[in-house]
Amino acid sequence: MSNQLEKVKELIALREEARLGGGEKAIQKQHERGKYTARERIAQLLDEGSFEEIDMFVRHRCYNFGQEKKSYLGDGVVTGYGTIDGRLVYVFAQDFTVFGGSLSETMALKICKIMDMAMKMGAPVIGLNDSGGARIQEGINALAGYAEIFQRNILASGVIPQISGILGPCAGGAVYSPALTDFTIMTKGISYMFLTGPKVVKTVTGEDVTQEALGGATVHSQKSGVAHFAAEDGEETLRIIRKLFSYIPQNNLEEPPLVECNDPIDRLEDSLNEIVPDSANHPYDMYEVINAIVDNGEFIEIQREYAKNIIIGFARFNGQAV
Ligand code: HXC
Repeated sequence: MSNQLEKVKELIALREEARLGGGEKAIQKQHERGKYTARERIAQLLDEGSFEEIDMFVRHRCYNFGQEKKSYLGDGVVTGYGTIDGRLVYVFAQDFTVFGGSLSETMALKICKIMDMAMKMGAPVIGLNDSGGARIQEGINALAGYAEIFQRNILASGVIPQISGILGPCAGGAVYSPALTDFTIMTKGISYMFLTGPKVVKTVTGEDVTQEALGGATVHSQKSGVAHFAAEDGEETLRIIRKLFSYIPQNNLEEPPLVECNDPIDRLEDSLNEIVPDSANHPYDMYEVINAIVDNGEFIEIQREYAKNIIIGFARFNGQAV
């Protein structure tokens, strides 16, 4: 019995260590950068108390460049499943406090496991990205890990929804993979998407460039179109993911959830008589038209800042997402 108690105590101690990721100092630094930790983000994203973590004690297996002397429980990514408004989702959240959230062989295995489970269950995958890309010390093993992730991104495409939150400086594979997913939500001022960071650009090409100009939320929501949303802060990014998810189905065989509707489907909207002008030379506001006809005037616009001559997004008619 006492031996069992010892084991339980050991397990509790290991869990406490794993929850600290790269350690208290690194967590403090993360907060000073205006960012939440991977676990804090998951807690904000999912229904309270619904998260079940898996692979909490995984460590990397790298012996290059003295890496064997430096390893952390969980290896820089928190993975598991939980619910949003009671609906099952699979989640991975990269932990910047461990090697800048960079992707090792074992981190890739953890992410792939989550993606495989999501495919089996027909449930969405939500990735919270905060990662410097392939873990340089692991060389080809990290790159091979990305190959496995990209392959799953492709196989899952059109079968289950894949949503990416970008919540820190993301480089290399930590950008290519989100760019293959269905929706990418960036966070202004703290999140970036680029092939490599400004320091590497400076070393290789001698060019001075800021993170913002290289791949900030403005660049990707206005110029490249890679980001579908640009949120004001990390909390808003997670709120957008929750809201977006309410409009989409669990998988390609299901319908989106039907929402109770108190906006009568046979409501007549007299304002439409006035909004569209008689003359084709006069402009009018398409938002007014959309807001007038959809349930309760609720419309979630996608790529608001990109190619502004078309408006796209989700709304509901009689509680059914369209
Ligand atoms: C290992 C990394 C890392 C990486 C960051 N770190 N990126 N460690 N591999 N890829 C570590 C840093 O050494 C540092 O450790 C800690 O994370 C925080 O990083 P900082 O540089 O201090 O933070 P910041 O100034 O915010 O800059 C973040 C960054 C920058 C812009 C992401 O670190 C950067 O440019 N990293 C390299 C990006 C890169 O080239 N990645 C490879 C892409 S190639 P300490 O111990 O000092 O705190 C790729 C290939 C995919 O992904 C192709 C697949 C087929």
